[in-house]
Amino acid sequence: MKNQVKQILVTGAAGYIGSHVVKQLLEETNYEIIIIDNISTGFQDTIVTLKSLDKTNSRIKFYDKDLSDWDEIENIFKENSIKEIIHFAAFSQVGESMIDPLKYYINNTANTANLVKIAVKYGVAKFVFSSTAAVFGEPNKEDIPIKEDLTTKPINPYGSSKLFSESIIKDSAKVNKNFKYVIFRYFNVAGADTQGLIGECHDPETHLIPLIAKTALGKREAISIYGDDYDTPDGTCIRDYIHVQDLADAHIKALEFLSTNPSDTFNCGYGYGYSVKEVVDTMKKVSQNDFKVIIDKRREGDPSTLISDCTKIKEKMKWTPKYNDLELICKTALEWEKKL
Ligand code: UFG
Repeated sequence: MKNQVKQILVTGAAGYIGSHVVKQLLEETNYEIIIIDNISTGFQDTIVTLKSLDKTNSRIKFYDKDLSDWDEIENIFKENSIKEIIHFAAFSQVGESMIDPLKYYINNTANTANLVKIAVKYGVAKFVFSSTAAVFGEPNKEDIPIKEDLTTKPINPYGSSKLFSESIIKDSAKVNKNFKYVIFRYFNVAGADTQGLIGECHDPETHLIPLIAKTALGKREAISIYGDDYDTPDGTCIRDYIHVQDLADAHIKALEFLSTNPSDTFNCGYGYGYSVKEVVDTMKKVSQNDFKVIIDKRREGDPSTLISDCTKIKEKMKWTPKYNDLELICKTALEWEKKL
């Protein structure tokens, strides 16, 4: 009997992290990849690039659909034989979620509930979900680095919308023995594909590293540091920056992991933090540009320090980061920004 090629659904693959995962799926696996993306925050060009990497021209099937179109989503399951899912599609701006919380609860939470419902109905066995360090809110100093079992206390609707989704996935797995999940809580994902084919692009851009890359290239006049009076060694916030390809690799590992292990939740970072000033100085070094820096007031809702404890993912998933280097992260972000 002919071996059927396994199909995997990747939602949100036109976006930043999703596209890097699809690139690795193409390079390292044999999956046929079903993509659902409504190109609202992602880019059609990214899909074109991914398709150009598919040497056989047959491994990517792209559906330009919105996850809120529940009937259409179910039709995609009827047309295909999807047994594995990596679910990225979501809104991810903390500030916007404070102004328009329902946008987040509907797209991130309600649409995830529907996707899980359909997944269970059509016999999906593996579900990998992108959650966020924002589920932890503002951790106490003694809780850093953050372990997976720290009490979750989101302080914005974005974090809550992801935490609700986590519950939906976990509760569904409890009552459907065939449905297993890996939940990843991402810390600060940064950098770009080391071959320079894909990278980060948000509109508006709010993340530190792409904004400094733009400044280093003269696309912006200056970078504002949001607060230098935090309780940290140099007064600026500390974050755990993880290169997007290492994060993508964790997703590939999660699929293997679920073949022989029960469902689980993992924090995803390097276990080491850099201050905003250190990141700015690193970008100055790699770009060889002493661009202008302005010390601004604090941004509302920014925890002073977020560092993951990555012991669990390293031990259980045998995940070994390859790009744990802030200079490389800044360099790849800079190279990508030049192309934009
Ligand atoms: N920052 C500046 N200037 C800027 C932009 C950012 O000083 O122009 C600072 C922020 O204040 C923060 C750090 O750089 O201290 C990192 O900010 P980012 O916006 O790059 O990332 P966040 O830490 O705010 O966001 C991350 C994830 C979110 C998650 C959040 C949880 O990207 O998905 O952590 O706090 F919700």
